[in-house]
Amino acid sequence: MGADSDGGCARSECGKRLRMPRRYPLSSAVLLLALTVGLFIWSRPAPAAEIAPAVAYATCARSADGIGKVYMGREIAQVMGHPGIGWLERSDREKEEAPSKAIALLELAPDAVLADIGAGSGYYSFRIARKLPRGKVVAVDIQPEMLDFLKAESAKLGITNVQPHLGTIESVQLPPASIDAALMVDAYHEFDHPVEMLASLRIALKSKGRIYLLEYRAEDDNVPIKTHHKMTEAQARKEFEAAGFRFVMNKPDLPWQHLLIFEKP
Ligand SMILES: C[S@@+](CC[C@H](N)C(=O)[O-])C[C@H]1O[C@@H](n2cnc3c(N)ncnc32)[C@H](O)[C@@H]1O
Repeated sequence: MGADSDGGCARSECGKRLRMPRRYPLSSAVLLLALTVGLFIWSRPAPAAEIAPAVAYATCARSADGIGKVYMGREIAQVMGHPGIGWLERSDREKEEAPSKAIALLELAPDAVLADIGAGSGYYSFRIARKLPRGKVVAVDIQPEMLDFLKAESAKLGITNVQPHLGTIESVQLPPASIDAALMVDAYHEFDHPVEMLASLRIALKSKGRIYLLEYRAEDDNVPIKTHHKMTEAQARKEFEAAGFRFVMNKPDLPWQHLLIFEKP
């Protein structure tokens, strides 16, 4: 008994038409499987080694607040551990740094998806989330203790659009083109692998997506912050432009910080 040319039937010896399973259900299943696997691979965050070129970091004698690793002439700062949550949440932060003014300067649509990278306790994440009624803040950090704090705060404040997200020292661990904008407040200068982090962020951002970089001004001796936790505008531009971002502007008028804006071309 052989299949006839319509691909779905065969004739028995007595001439009766027998129903045979069509061939295309099998090929559709294979196609569907291939599409699912392809989609899974495409939506996974790319491993850092795939997305960042080999980088020549230098080393130096380790200073009190640094880690002895140098990128573009800047010694990377030590990470602020989770016992520093009290300092991030201090009551005079508004008076000292004017975070509400900084937040007002961010240009975010009400449905925007913003990644707050190095979110810490979520001081900025929760304040911004209120301005995104149809959007959300993905609060990225590498310290699980920070994410635990974020979860507890979400419950306490009744805020449902802050999504804690564990990154790694090399990657934001976000799918390609999944965020409209990124914010980094007092965090970038302590990224252990700045090149790999920016490469992963570039992939996670949508085209024309913006980065809002807040760093204490190293040009200003009156800003009472340790040297390694400050950055000059020139240094930040050098590093972000090398990562393929376009400098848009430095919004002035914050008491202690630069608010540097970069864009993914
Ligand atoms: C000084 S805190 C600032 C927290 C918060 N942005 C704020 O201003 O309140 C810096 C945070 O960056 C986080 N961090 C350091 N390296 C990181 C990385 N590669 N990816 C994500 N977060 C990182 C630290 O764990 C820490 O919570």
